[in-house]
Amino acid sequence: MKPRITEPAAAQQPRFDGVSIAVHWLTLVLVVGTFGAATAIGQLQDEASADALLTWHRSLGVAIWTLSAARLVWRMTRARIPPLPRSMSAPLRLAAHVNAWALYLLMLVQPLTGVAQTVYRGHPFELFLWRIPALVGRDKAMVHLWHAVHEWGAWLFAALVGLHAGAALFHTLVLRDGVLARMWPRSGPIAIREPRSQR
Ligand code: HEM
Ligand code: HEM
Repeated sequence: MKPRITEPAAAQQPRFDGVSIAVHWLTLVLVVGTFGAATAIGQLQDEASADALLTWHRSLGVAIWTLSAARLVWRMTRARIPPLPRSMSAPLRLAAHVNAWALYLLMLVQPLTGVAQTVYRGHPFELFLWRIPALVGRDKAMVHLWHAVHEWGAWLFAALVGLHAGAALFHTLVLRDGVLARMWPRSGPIAIREPRSQR
């Protein structure tokens, strides 16, 4: 029999607090912008435009780091963290937690490997409106090393986001167990399957 979908049940779904939800979706916008800028840099012939885009890329990356550090402090002190649905098996819950913590780790480490790559280039660079002077002399070997680490980190980041978003959509469209409703600003449009005991 097809599961019965109820909006009232979705409305009762315990959700993350407003700050966590706002920061989660803002981070998504920043991550898309950071990847978008990085991809576009390679397509541009004009050096001045490529430099401007690289400054955007670096600035958005630093914004992600700052927001994620603040988000973790909020999570550990004030956040409301709703439990995952009881219908999820223990291994799936573990996978969701490992994925979330790996994402937190990358949101903090990826910008740092970008900064390392930038600093070892050995010339001044801009972040937002600030001009940062050259901090060390040019070191080609370190630039190569950090460029490779940054590139692999970006692939890993993209893969984890893909898994994470895919899982969220699978929960929403197929399982309909309210996982996305926990992170959604309004629970209205996201219907969930009513728990067996309430049918
Ligand atoms: C979460 C944050 C970040 C993500 C997801 C990210 C992702 C990327 C990606 C996908 C590339 C292209 C890789 C390649 O093929 O070379 C790249 C390149 C680069 N990133 Fe980042 N990055 C982030 C933060 C930063 C930060 C904070 C900085 C420096 C302050 C930075 C500096 C660079 C530099 C210098 C390049 C090489 C660009 C070029 O010369 O073509 N990144 N980044
Ligand atoms: C750059 C992209 C994204 C990043 C870095 C990211 C990161 C995270 C993190 C770290 C959490 C764990 C929250 C916590 O427990 O403190 C989370 C939860 C969640 N995210 Fe994302 N997310 C991204 C994109 C998306 C997208 C595109 C969707 C939906 C299609 C989504 C849906 C969810 C849902 C439903 C939760 C709550 C489920 C849970 O607690 O595991 N996220 N996200």
